[in-house]
Amino acid sequence: MKLLIYVLALTSLLLSSLPALALEPGERVDNFQLLDQNGESHELYYLSDMAAVVVMVHGNGCPIVRNVLPTLKEIQTKYEPQDVAFLLLNANLQDDRDSIHQEASEFLIDFPIMVDETQLIAESLDVVRTAEVFVVDPKTWKLVYRGPVDDRLAYGAQKPKASKHYLADALDAVITDEPVKVAQVEAMGCLVNLPEQDRRTVHAQISYSEQVAPILIDRCVTCHRKGGIGPWAMARYEMVQGFAPMIREVIRTKRMPPWHPDPHYGKFVDQRGIANDDAKILVHWIEAGAPRGNGPDPLEALDTEWGEWTLGTPDLIVEVPAFDVPATGVVDYMYPVAENPLDHDVWVRAIEILPGDRAVVHHVLASVEEPDRGRRRIPGNLGGYSPGKNAVPYPDNTGVLVRKGANFWFQMHYTPSGKAVTDVTRIGLYFYDAPPKHALDMEVIYDTSLAIPANVKAYHEQLDHVFEQDIMLYSLLPHAHLRGRAARFTAHYPDGSQEILLSVPKYDFNWQPLYALDPPKFIPAGTRVVLDMVWDNSAQNPANPDPGKMVFWGDQTWEEMNVGWFRYRLADDEDRRDAPAQAPSEQSAQSDTREYTSAATGLSEMPANAH
Ligand code: HEC
Repeated sequence: MKLLIYVLALTSLLLSSLPALALEPGERVDNFQLLDQNGESHELYYLSDMAAVVVMVHGNGCPIVRNVLPTLKEIQTKYEPQDVAFLLLNANLQDDRDSIHQEASEFLIDFPIMVDETQLIAESLDVVRTAEVFVVDPKTWKLVYRGPVDDRLAYGAQKPKASKHYLADALDAVITDEPVKVAQVEAMGCLVNLPEQDRRTVHAQISYSEQVAPILIDRCVTCHRKGGIGPWAMARYEMVQGFAPMIREVIRTKRMPPWHPDPHYGKFVDQRGIANDDAKILVHWIEAGAPRGNGPDPLEALDTEWGEWTLGTPDLIVEVPAFDVPATGVVDYMYPVAENPLDHDVWVRAIEILPGDRAVVHHVLASVEEPDRGRRRIPGNLGGYSPGKNAVPYPDNTGVLVRKGANFWFQMHYTPSGKAVTDVTRIGLYFYDAPPKHALDMEVIYDTSLAIPANVKAYHEQLDHVFEQDIMLYSLLPHAHLRGRAARFTAHYPDGSQEILLSVPKYDFNWQPLYALDPPKFIPAGTRVVLDMVWDNSAQNPANPDPGKMVFWGDQTWEEMNVGWFRYRLADDEDRRDAPAQAPSEQSAQSDTREYTSAATGLSEMPANAH
């Protein structure tokens, strides 16, 4: 009797020390977005037009993974034509993008391997071992199978042939809308170390007051405050608690904070991304129930004065002539001019643009006439405003000359918002006391012959520009409209090496910050900089106004653009002396300009369209 009680007690002890319930078939798999070994973006819920999505857990050097990949390949060959998408997921602490890229090259793995650096996605799938496959039904986003591909492999042994084909059976069932008979089988593979997975009770101890709120203040509150551009103010704990599930979602899908460059390439001024560790704190805290805990509420205590101008009071404020924006309809681009009231030349060190009404000002390009410039006018030589644009001062010691008598002109794009309003947008200019060392210059590349076929998920076009002189490159800005999907700038140096300067794997029309290189980059004469732009003109792009139409170049957002901006200055001897070796050698070796093809997600239907 005593023994029985002892055994019962022990069992319950064992049970209670088990990790929280594993994600089981029938449960929903939440959306996520991750980059793969090539820097391409994969979002689970983008695959809603698929019949099934297969995600297999990957790990470098795991013999079971290597052994099972050829079988997975065979299954892919059979099921991809039936609209099944195949992805791998690597959440190993010891693997990173470069080593995964290398493993993929060495073992000829052409599946996208999503890199789960924070382990947040693997944690939510309750991943235990590599080589386990998860089959998700996009009709419901429910898990319908988890387990091994088949029963061929065992530890240290393998049968010549599998007798049970779990994955294929599950796919046959999902495709024909039948229930999956064997929905869960114990997986065989290398254990994945997820140190935080079993710590859900510990996560309830994450302090809102000391850990969570400071991250929100640092990364979110500039926009999510009263009068800010975010749709709701993080004014106190209760707001955050209410939006907690949504915060978890935007972090898992990398929508927020709005900063979309691939962190693998380049460093940028004023980057507003969130560190992996901070993302983990937020999500773990939310998954633990977003407890208030003790301590004061730093959000409530926050008394930052948010000035109208983020760069301080301007030296000159120029008003764009008032414009009556109708309630509805389409307004062509306007090119108003504002007189320059100054009676002397000035060097501008920064500008900030304050839209009169953010709901109707889609974008502004601010320019100053350049009377002595014998070449085409470049709109935006002073700077611009677009949604999500940050006010960035010009780089140190560089400026734009505004001559006495040279007027300001603007390209204004107004988008009616349902209510007639009069917009007065203002431009704040900040001057240098003494002329700066360098004049800032600008180059624009674009293609007005752009034509994007209907119903294509990934249409590619390349633009390029050869810099004929040595320059210091300050910033880059790719621009497309609602169908923009990805953008990448690559420098092709005269010595034959290549370097990716900026990659935006998931372009978001709503967020077009100026990407200012930190530090600025010396670009030797003869360098060709290529802009690879990709558009998604399919129904899978939720922003697409009309997937059934071929789209051409045009000003309006339902038309398209392919534009690249460079802000630079001419280099001098000092820059040449300080210039580091051109491209880091490992990057040129990797030369990552392979197409954005991904057989699994159907992105390979269009050839690259170099023009
Ligand atoms: C640069 C400004 C900015 C920053 C910084 C920012 N947001 Fe946002 N956020 C916005 C805007 C604007 C929207 C609405 C448009 C959109 O979703 O793109 C938004 C939308 C959201 C939404 C979705 C609301 C909904 O229901 O659609 C959530 C949740 C959110 N933000 C959370 C955050 C969190 C958490 C952070 C910090 C880690 C953050 N944001 C940082 C501007 C910002």
